[in-house]
Parts: sequence; structure tokens; C-alpha cells
Amino acid sequence: MSKKILVVAGDGIGPEIVAEALKVLQALQADGSIDISLEEGLIGGAAYDAVGDPLPEETLAAAKASDAVLLGAVGGPKWEPLHISKRPEKGLLGMRAGLGLFANLRPAILYPQLAGASTLKPEIVSGLDIMIVRELTGGIYFGQPRGIETLPSGERRGFNTLVYTESEVERICRVAYDIAMKRGKKVCSVDKANVLESTEMWREVAIKTAADYPEIELSHLYVDNASMQLVRAPKQFDVMVTTNMFGDILSDCAAMLTGSIGMLPSASLNAEGQGMYEPIHGSAPDIAGRGVANPLATILSVAMMLRYSLDAAGAADRIEAAVSKVLDQGLRTGDIMSEGMRQVGTVEMGDAVVAALAGE
Ligand code: NAD
Ligand code: IPM
Ligand code: MN
Repeated sequence: MSKKILVVAGDGIGPEIVAEALKVLQALQADGSIDISLEEGLIGGAAYDAVGDPLPEETLAAAKASDAVLLGAVGGPKWEPLHISKRPEKGLLGMRAGLGLFANLRPAILYPQLAGASTLKPEIVSGLDIMIVRELTGGIYFGQPRGIETLPSGERRGFNTLVYTESEVERICRVAYDIAMKRGKKVCSVDKANVLESTEMWREVAIKTAADYPEIELSHLYVDNASMQLVRAPKQFDVMVTTNMFGDILSDCAAMLTGSIGMLPSASLNAEGQGMYEPIHGSAPDIAGRGVANPLATILSVAMMLRYSLDAAGAADRIEAAVSKVLDQGLRTGDIMSEGMRQVGTVEMGDAVVAALAGE
């Protein structure tokens, strides 16, 4: 049965990197490895410009009717002056909430060829393989009340609410523990339980839920220490599970261990197994339109899509092997460039992955 994929490229470098990921999907379709149908939709600033809404109803409806969504990135300076309800980021958050994509998997894996591209010493990062499990539809991103109000004094007050229910914490912990059972069986839950009640409860629920997983070695860190440990000795971690905002910050930090944020893919899953797949980086307005963005995070997101939503783990392995081969060939976009390597642009990198897939 053909699988339906909705493609929402978004803004900035979004269309540039998605075009390369689509080449990879189409190559796999052409050689008979997968059976897919592609549909395109509007999201973010591009959608606002076209129809006045960063998440048009048709896009969310098409996403709900798809087996998977491939997203580039949203946002940019052009839309910053808009009211928060109309900003591109609202489109992305609306998609996550609308599809119930509560589990965000952000693997940080160092390709050995890039050990020299990290800002950290090669011995600190070599062999790195961490899975960050980020809660994606709760916490301070969605908590009520929120807003900006004017006090009687005339001064303004901005406020957000960090809130979690026990069931929200339990289900994301179960995702992390299930993943860890297939890996190193170690989970570090990251919170701020020393200060914030919501995460004091998070820690209690993490411990209680772990009772069903006697083989899991569960540890806990406060987020400030966790961020320090990530750059001090990242290989101590196997799976990390944390809140929406802490996961956002820690995954950008972990990205740098792998050489560049242009290398980190992600999967966002709901309880029904539907998923949205996107690089963890943004629309990179500073390099957009120049053909220099690294498409590998998006291409690796396609591999995650094949593995988690399309039941095509073999094709996913082939994409990852093709990426490794291209790195072996010495091809590098600017963000992962190092001495002796050959610098290429976005399109050349995408073409090289497609050629490697075909065994050329
Ligand atoms: P960013 O991730 O877009 O860029 C941070 C830095 O990393 C920039 O220097 C950029 O050039 C570089 N970079 C990012 N992706 C790259 C790639 N593939 N290849 C090479 N270099 C890359 O973060 P930002 O600058 O803080 O945000 C820019 C816009 O993107 C904002 O509007 C923000 O809200 C949005 N954003 C969107 C997403 C998303 O769509 N998932 C994620 C993060 C930020
Ligand atoms: C990410 C981004 C988003 C987030 C923004 C653009 C809403 O930073 O996907 O990491 O904060 O989740
Ligand atoms: Mn982020």
C-alpha cells in the first residue's frame, strides 16, 4: 500500500534542504525500495504570506490524513514583527499540537569522519551516540495562563506557565525507557526538581514509571548540570528524557558535539505512530538563498521517517550508509568543513547522497 507523505518546506533554507531530501525519497521510490505518494503543503511564513495563516486548515487536515510529514524549517526576521499568534513558529507548534506529536526523538550521533569538525576534542566526542527524548506538546510552550498584560501601574508583565500532568510525564518516560531497552538501557531524566514543583513531580513520575523497567538504570540531573556534563563528558549518556524547553536547549547543545546542527535529524511521534520529521535546526536566515546549507540533517530525518513511519528500516539503513560514504569521500558543506576536505554546496551534497545510494 502506497504511503502518503505531506511535504511542508517552510521558510529560509527550508525549501533548499527539503529539495535534497526529496531527491533521496524519489531515488528510493524509483528503485522500488519504497512506495510513496507526495503532497505539498504551506506552513510558516510562506503560508502566512500566501493565505494570512502560518498553519492553514488544509495543511493540518492534509497532515492528519498522511502517514508522515516532512518539514524543512520555519521563521525568519521578516515575520518577527507579527503578533505571536501569526508568527511562523506558531505553524510548527500548531502542527505538533494538532497531530498530538508528544514524543520528539533527537539522536546526536557523531559520524567518525567528523570527529575533527566538532569544537570539542576528538577523544571527548568520538563514538558519541545519544538519544534525546524531548516532551513536545506540553510544558511551558503550551501552559496556560500565558500572555503580556499591562498592570495598573502602566508597567507590562509577561508570563508563561510550566505545567505537566502525571500522564504526560509517564507517557514520555515510557517512550524513553522503551528506546533505552533497545540500546544501552541507561536513561538520564533531566529536570529542575530543586526549584520547580512541576519538575519535582516529573522526577517522582519518572521513578515510579521506571518500576516497570527493572533493567533500566535511571539517573537524574538538574538541567544546569546536565548542560555542563554534555560538553564535559557526553559519552556518559545513553538516553536523556526531559521537558519541552529543556529538550530544545540541550539538543542544540548536543548538536555541536556532532560537528554541526546541520547534522541532527528528528522524529516527532504521536500515540498512533504518525510522525513528523524535521532537522532540529531552524531556517538559518543568515545563509538562506545561498545554496550553502547542509541538507544532511533533513536527509537523515527522511531515514528516521522510513524507520518509524513507513516500515522501511532497510531503506533507512541505506540512507545512513550513503551519508557515511559521502563523508568518506571528503565532501563537506561549509558548516562541517575542515582542512583537506572538499567544500560543496547544498545541491552537490544532495546529489552525492543520491549517487552513493545508487552505489556509484
Ligand atoms: P537556526 O538553527 O536557524 O540557525 C543557527 C545557526 O546555525 C545559524 O548560524 C545557521 O546558519 C546555522 N545553521 C542552521 N542550520 C544549518 C544548516 N542546515 N547548514 C548550515 N548551517 C546551519 O537558529 P536561529 O538563527 O536561532 O533561528 C532562525 C529562525 O529559525 C528563527 O525564526 C527561529 O524561530 C526558527 N527556528 C525554526 C526551527 C524549526 O523550524 N524547527 C528550529 C529552530 C529555529
Ligand atoms: C525546534 C525549534 C522550535 C522549538 C521553535 C521554532 C518553535 O527551536 O524545533 O527546536 O522551540 O521547538
Ligand atoms: Mn530548537
